[in-house]
Amino acid sequence: MLSEQIQAKINRELKKYPANQKQSAVMAALRFVQDEKGWVPADDMADVAAFLGMPKMAVCEIATFYHMYNLKPMGRHTLTVCTNLPCMLGGSEDTVAYLKSRLGIGLGEVTADGKYGLREGECMGACKDAPLFTVDNKKLCGRLNKEKIDQILAGLDQS
Ligand code: FES
Repeated sequence: MLSEQIQAKINRELKKYPANQKQSAVMAALRFVQDEKGWVPADDMADVAAFLGMPKMAVCEIATFYHMYNLKPMGRHTLTVCTNLPCMLGGSEDTVAYLKSRLGIGLGEVTADGKYGLREGECMGACKDAPLFTVDNKKLCGRLNKEKIDQILAGLDQS
């Protein structure tokens, strides 16, 4: 069942849309679930569907189409590296390789202490800042090099 906090946030979101267009809030609703839980479990997709009066499958299709939704636990901080062509030409392969060696995990994996998850993502519309990753789908970190990555991880280690 969706928490009271998530339901309140969805209800606030629904005020932006006509009463017969509740499904318009589905992406926000999935984001609220992920913000609270760190990922979007299938049960919560079903709860979102019921809350918005949508078919479960439609919610599932959205959650699996957009890369920003975690479909499994991805650690306290999820690092999503864009590996699309412009970023690849800008050095994303080196970024992925460095993160793999720093964290000791591969793409789609979580560190043993549960602190970091590493995944690849689709174009984030910031190709000029390649190579880049997002932290928890909230903060975009671009023009990465080893030193900058070390600084970002040091900051996250404190949080
Ligand atoms: S290709 Fe990576 S941000 Fe556009």
